[in-house]
Amino acid sequence: MTNPAFSLIIPAAGQGKRMQSETPKPYLELKGITILERTLSAFSEISGLCQVIVSTSSQYEEQTRKLLKRKFPDISVDVVSGGRERQHSIYNALMVVLDEADLIAVHDAVRPFVLDSTISQCLRKAYETGGAIPGVPVKDTIKRVDSKGFITQTPDRTDLWQAQTPQIFKKEILLKAYKNAIKKDFLGTDDASLVEAIGERVSVVKGNRNNFKITYPLDFRIAELLTDENYHG
Ligand code: C5P
Repeated sequence: MTNPAFSLIIPAAGQGKRMQSETPKPYLELKGITILERTLSAFSEISGLCQVIVSTSSQYEEQTRKLLKRKFPDISVDVVSGGRERQHSIYNALMVVLDEADLIAVHDAVRPFVLDSTISQCLRKAYETGGAIPGVPVKDTIKRVDSKGFITQTPDRTDLWQAQTPQIFKKEILLKAYKNAIKKDFLGTDDASLVEAIGERVSVVKGNRNNFKITYPLDFRIAELLTDENYHG
């Protein structure tokens, strides 16, 4: 089944402070291949892809442009400047999305282990309902904690999910959500929260725990293990 035409936005402009590394996370290598390149590879065979846009910091623009041209020689590719927060980096990318795209998929540069099936399921569901993201049920009990370190609430775990990417939306919905967020000065940590803020419903597709965000040094060690060809977990 062919997918609807979609533009892919990859925010890759984070500084990686939590990784305690000089090199930003997307540009760290796993077995000689950058995390960003591995993430892009996850999308290279997905039908319907008509454009790839990466937001990055100025010193990585040239390297990223070359990488995009090499990996996607037949479709439109763009590199845009990153912003202060993830949301600003994505907004800059939204400004260059092609008219021909029906859907926009936003995927973190640091989630290289996303499966084809997750991407395709989210594309189909977003086309049907307007917006879809992958998620997994939380495994830990989550606490709300006040500034003095005391628990104020323990939400029921049975309906708590961890949001992942790709977060995929009809183009008009995502553009409206980002414009609204700018106008209201609303800062969200994912794209769905901006879409929720304009009153649109967003579907959740059951994802895969391997699609984690490489954030801390421990995540990087796990990513190395998953990249190891001898690992069949
Ligand atoms: O910081 P966080 O873990 O939410 O980052 C998720 C993704 O957003 C990463 O791929 C990171 O490079 C990107 N990001 C960005 N611009 C920022 C902050 C994060 O593109 N200002």
